Amino acid sequence: MARMRMKRHIPERMERCRERWFDDPAANKGKWREVCGVSEDTPLFVEFGCGKGKFCCQTALDNPDVLYVAVERDSSVILAAIEKAHNLEIPNLFFIRCDIKDIEEFFAEDEVSRIYINFCDPWNRRNKPKRRLTYRDFLEKYKILLRKDGQIRFKTDNDDLFDFSLEEFTHCGFTLSELTRDLHNSEYDSANVRTEFEQKFADEGIPIKRVVATL
Ligand SMILES: C[S@@+](CC[C@H](N)C(=O)[O-])C[C@H]1O[C@@H](n2cnc3c(N)ncnc32)[C@H](O)[C@@H]1O
Repeated sequence: MARMRMKRHIPERMERCRERWFDDPAANKGKWREVCGVSEDTPLFVEFGCGKGKFCCQTALDNPDVLYVAVERDSSVILAAIEKAHNLEIPNLFFIRCDIKDIEEFFAEDEVSRIYINFCDPWNRRNKPKRRLTYRDFLEKYKILLRKDGQIRFKTDNDDLFDFSLEEFTHCGFTLSELTRDLHNSEYDSANVRTEFEQKFADEGIPIKRVVATL
C-alpha cells in the first residue's frame, strides 16, 4: 500500500521541484550552459546513476562555479534526489530521468567536462559484461560527449568490476591516475564525498576502489 501511494504522488512531488528538471531535457542537448544560465566556460559535470542524490547535492554545494546534471533512471529514486536538491536550494544542479544507454540524446559532442560513475550495478563479468556502465561500448559513447582532457571519475566496492573497468578504460584510450584500492585510507580521502552506497559499504568494512580516467 505504502508503495502504491508513493507512486501515485510522484507527479505532484516532482511538480513542487519544477526548477530542478525539464519537460524535454533532450532539447537542452548542446546548450545546457545557455539554458541553465551559466557562461560558456563553466565546467559541466554529469553524474550517472545518482541514486538518492547525496553525492551530487554535496558536490554541487561545494563547487558553486560548476554546473551539475545528475542522471538516474528510477523515478522513485530520482524523486528523492530532486527533493533533496530542492530543499537545499542548490542553484547549480539539475536532473534527467533517463537510461544511460540513451545518453547521447541529451548531451552533444564535447559538451561535458567530467563524468562521475559511483557504485554502478556490478552485473556479472561472464554473463552480462555489456550491461556494466564501464563496458567499452558505453565508454565510446562517453568519449563523444567528453571534452578534450575530460575525465571519468569512477568508484566501486566491487573488485571484479574495478579490474574490468581498468581494462576497459585502457582499451578505450583513457589515461589512468589517482588509482587506489582503499580510498578511505588513501591520500585522496580528504577531498572525497561519500555516496549513499559508499557509506553502506564502508560501514560493512569493504574497501572502496577509485580511479580517474582522463581522455
Ligand atoms: C547501486 S546504485 C548507486 C547509487 C549512487 N550512485 C550511490 O553510490 O549511492 C546504482 C544506481 O544507478 C541507477 N542506474 C543503474 N543503471 C542505470 C542506467 N543504465 N541508467 C540510469 N541509471 C542507472 C540505479 O537506478 C541506481 O539508482
